[in-house]
Amino acid sequence: MPQVLLISGNPSKSSRMNGLTYYCHQALLKSGLSVSVLHVIDLPAASLLSADFGDPAIQAALTQVAQADAVIIASPVYKASYSGLLKVFLDMLPQKGLQDKIIFPLFIGGSLAHLLVIEYALKPVLSVLGGTNILQGVYAVDQWVTRLEGGGFELTAELQARLDQTVQRFALEIGRQQLSASSTDTVAAE
Ligand SMILES: Cc1cc2nc3c(=O)[nH]c(=O)nc-3n(C[C@H](O)[C@H](O)[C@H](O)COP(=O)(O)O)c2cc1C
Repeated sequence: MPQVLLISGNPSKSSRMNGLTYYCHQALLKSGLSVSVLHVIDLPAASLLSADFGDPAIQAALTQVAQADAVIIASPVYKASYSGLLKVFLDMLPQKGLQDKIIFPLFIGGSLAHLLVIEYALKPVLSVLGGTNILQGVYAVDQWVTRLEGGGFELTAELQARLDQTVQRFALEIGRQQLSASSTDTVAAE
């Protein structure tokens, strides 16, 4: 079964960004995909900052990325870019660490002013890491996500529709890639 890895570069565990990631996670499970979540904030900070490749937790996280067929890269907008936490993790990936992976960028910001952050800040880095199959992604404004009193989040109907659409495209791309990989295998075996 294709593996999806959701990489969260949010230092805040209570961020409204989790409303987005939870929604996408559930939608992908409904599509029959297997999804794991990697919260970069849970990795040992000193090892991340000193790029300690010998740290077992870092090694396990890098293996998760290597084994994923598709990744969701989720980040808040901080200072007109993605979070520094996400960057220290991306810096540890191998040179072509995102090659052949389908990538779904998922961002939340305080305003629409930085709507293009995925284009000008994230995509060049993804590209250096070998990522070519990058979906347009979703940028949400934090006011479109409401924290509920009993826990959980409510998303505006429009945001839900955009996430549904992107998740659907993501799942479709994953299916296409699996199909083309299996037909390549068949040709190679003949
Ligand atoms: C240090 C910091 C810098 C931020 N910089 C920006 C920014 O440049 N542009 C923007 O639209 N939002 C910015 N924000 C807002 C967050 O992206 C966004 O609203 C937040 O992550 C989601 O809110 P929550 O985590 O409080 O739920 C910033 C927030 C923080 C804490």
